[in-house]
Amino acid sequence: MIQYTIVDNMETMGYWAADMVAEQIGRKPDSVLGLATGSTPLPLYGELVRRSEAGEVDFTAVRTVNLDEYVGLPSDHPQSYRYFMREHLFDRIPIDPENTALPDGMAQDLSAECRAYDQLIEKWGGIDLQVLGIGHNGHIGFNEPGSVFTLKTHVVDISERTRIANARFFGDDPQKVPAQAITMGIGNIMAARKIVLLVSGRSKAEILERALCGDVNPLVPASVLQLHPDVTVIADQQAAACIEIPEAAMI
Ligand code: F6R
Repeated sequence: MIQYTIVDNMETMGYWAADMVAEQIGRKPDSVLGLATGSTPLPLYGELVRRSEAGEVDFTAVRTVNLDEYVGLPSDHPQSYRYFMREHLFDRIPIDPENTALPDGMAQDLSAECRAYDQLIEKWGGIDLQVLGIGHNGHIGFNEPGSVFTLKTHVVDISERTRIANARFFGDDPQKVPAQAITMGIGNIMAARKIVLLVSGRSKAEILERALCGDVNPLVPASVLQLHPDVTVIADQQAAACIEIPEAAMI
């Protein structure tokens, strides 16, 4: 089932998403959070840092698993997702680095790394709350159009569209964006007990409508979320422009 919260700015989006994370940690202090990178979750991470500093959320027992990592970037590369997470969250909250997992894009044996990542998620008891963004082509994590819904962690070729979208972080040169990534599969994402999808901006309105109101179809990977029992979509009004939303969902 999909619930909607429609907000009028990114700060409010961060606030509502942080409420969900805080509520999850309050209920289960050693929760496993599935985390995403990208621009959309930044206000969430900012708000979590603020609440942690104010003593309102305790991260000391929390464990995190990120959706994805580029292949070929070491963890100290400024565009690696490990670096991103440290900069925006991990280095700013009292979380044990041992409890923060991302796939290792430098692993010699990438398939063994994928299996090890799935095993870690399993060992930690699965994901309690998964934070997601959505790409303009409907991708979630790096699960690009055409992805098989049952896959677990695997290596993907990053689509040309996504390389162009991410070029802004690589000196505006799509060729500098790594050609591959390790990503949790849709199988991992759908196994999360709860999902929160964050979406912002008019440029995401059409794909959000196709994902949530269209057919469930691997060509729009995020459409699989219609089959999950507990999804909350927090979107701004621009991103929700093509969806009919009940008045009650407007914040
Ligand atoms: C990154 C990830 C991606 C992003 C998506 C949206 O870890 O999972 O699927 O969520 O590309 O990115 P932004 O938020 O930058 O529009």
